[in-house]
Amino acid sequence: MRTSDKILVIGSSGQIGTELVQNLREIYGIDSVIASDVKVTEQAKEGPFEVIDVMNPQGLLEIVKRHQINQVYLLAALLSATAEKMPKFGWDLNMQGLFNVLDLAKEKIIEKIYWPSSIAVFGPNTPKENTPQYTIMEPSTVYGISKQAGERWCEYYFNKYNVDVRSLRYPGLIGWKSAPGGGTTDYAVHIFHEALKSASYECFLSENTTLPMMYMPDAIKATIRIMQADSDKIKIRSSYNLSGFSFSPKDIAQEIKKYIPDFTISFKPDSRQQIADSWPKSIDSIEANKDWGWKPEFDLAAMTADMIKNLKK
Ligand code: SER
Repeated sequence: MRTSDKILVIGSSGQIGTELVQNLREIYGIDSVIASDVKVTEQAKEGPFEVIDVMNPQGLLEIVKRHQINQVYLLAALLSATAEKMPKFGWDLNMQGLFNVLDLAKEKIIEKIYWPSSIAVFGPNTPKENTPQYTIMEPSTVYGISKQAGERWCEYYFNKYNVDVRSLRYPGLIGWKSAPGGGTTDYAVHIFHEALKSASYECFLSENTTLPMMYMPDAIKATIRIMQADSDKIKIRSSYNLSGFSFSPKDIAQEIKKYIPDFTISFKPDSRQQIADSWPKSIDSIEANKDWGWKPEFDLAAMTADMIKNLKK
């Protein structure tokens, strides 16, 4: 690891960024990690922070040069449910943001990029159980289409311009430090807050909707591990499947009941049900395991115990 690494996290105040910045700062030092979002947030009190609109390449270039950034984590995006409400903006933000960062590496202004993909790249015709890395991919959401196109562009920039870009197909992410924003898997975070507040939760997905999920410490570990791996270990330059564990709203409700026995859940599926129905139930991440040693630590029981312990504080 270079000691002179200078890292820019774009979209740093979101669900992943909030935790990622804290973890990167523990490794690289506070001043080596520049947080940035489209507006000033509380995060600005914790260390270097810049306001960046990833759609503005000049503004981005100015900040990258000023801080002598060599690595960018691009987390700014519209997630699945929000992008369905603003399809054109979702596509523009998710794609243009990626191009603006890829082009910085193409011009050799930065050296390394992290860009997240998602289980949303899969679609209704994808095999649902233990979904392999290479399979039918016909995403039916704007978010999924943008992530699939983004994966193709990442691979293209690697092959054509030798751009060192690395990516993971995150499942639904669950954490207690930050709130999710506009995804289909958000219920799995909200359910904990409501369970502790009122011992009841109305779920926007139906009870048996099983989806791939991951606890945030595992997601952060995978992200930092793929970025720190030697370049020749990264055989896949589109995006790696990444597995944690899978559960349905019914499963997680049962787990929560072990801590809050009078917890009740009801179901009122909305438009997000259709999105969830188009996604896999579980993911095979054998390539990530083989290439750079991926293994998740948390399962449903361990995640639930840790969420409840921390949210109670
Ligand atoms: N958690 C994301 C979403 O629901 C999936 O990438 O949109």
